[in-house]
Amino acid sequence: MGISILGMGRYVPEQILTNDDFTRFVETNDEWIRTRTGITERPMAGWEPTWYMGKQASLRAVEAAGIDAEDIGLVISCTVTSDFLTPSMASVIQHEVGASNAAAFDLNAACSGFVYALDTARRFLETDDSLKYVLVVANEALSRFLDFSDRSSCILFGDGAAAAIVERSDKLFSSALRSEGSGAKYLCARSLNVAPEVAQESDFEDPFPEAPLHKLQQNGKEVYKFATQALPKSFELAAEKINITKDDIDWFVPHQANVRIIETAAKKLGVPMEKFIVTLGHYGNTSSASIPLALCEAIEKDIIKRGQTIALIGFGAGLTYGGIIMEY
Ligand code: UT7
Repeated sequence: MGISILGMGRYVPEQILTNDDFTRFVETNDEWIRTRTGITERPMAGWEPTWYMGKQASLRAVEAAGIDAEDIGLVISCTVTSDFLTPSMASVIQHEVGASNAAAFDLNAACSGFVYALDTARRFLETDDSLKYVLVVANEALSRFLDFSDRSSCILFGDGAAAAIVERSDKLFSSALRSEGSGAKYLCARSLNVAPEVAQESDFEDPFPEAPLHKLQQNGKEVYKFATQALPKSFELAAEKINITKDDIDWFVPHQANVRIIETAAKKLGVPMEKFIVTLGHYGNTSSASIPLALCEAIEKDIIKRGQTIALIGFGAGLTYGGIIMEY
């Protein structure tokens, strides 16, 4: 059983930070950021809560799908930047969009979140006949968790949200999800302090013992290395399940972290860059929102059309990765 994306919506905050704006906080320059990452500007949430962005994207998705929000049976929100430890973003959004008959929960698979959530939605639809529509919404405000004195990470991220309404269908679908927790230490934002004796006993060697709470820390080089392996593997694992090849794919929609990562993955797969949707130049890395933002924009611009086969491939903190191949 597959799923059909009935409609999508996206929302990004109005406030934009250009590369030049970062020269006010750190020693950097536009040329370095553009050539090393492909990013020129990114939206920043400022006062807007994560759930607010998710709500706006969800309302647009409901409208695009032409459905009644009361017919949504499940809301899955993927985020690493929740406004609250509890309640979930999903419950807040469920109420805000009028999905009064829906269950709701958050899913954290970092930047792979949308791929994980879409696959989870499909599994719910497969096993619960009473479920008609699922709202999958990715909403992120990374800017609140950045250390604006760390030039190697603060320039990478942007804020935004994108949502999809899905229903069951007979369309082509394959997925593969994985995690490599041994790399958890390469990308993390701490929410609580750890007792030192526990840290010593664990395999989870703490690479950032002095890191302030709630600030993202990363080993950029290790994440880069992982990403260039994980993106092609995400596609290959999903493709081999249904016996199809790269030539059967009309569009690849990768996680948008660094254009050099995407170029390396394209080369490894033997696929021309023209088949990759790249939007990170104006969004930056919006974590779980990056794949659906790119997908939604490409659909709105009539680049991705009905009946075409798409591959959504993601990687992120965890370290997680995963791929979905489906017909749009
Ligand atoms: O969703 C997943 C999130 N994370 C990622 O995807 C991160 C993956 N990693 C990357 O994208 C890249 O590793 C970075 C963009 C983070 C860094 O690019 P790089 O080509 O690996 O640079 P580097 O770390 O090797 O640094 C080269 C130089 C260093 O200076 P020295 O030591 O050679 O003097 C850095 O200090 O560039 C310096 N540098 C900067 N210079 C100007 C680092 N950040 C900046 C900056 N502006 N913003």
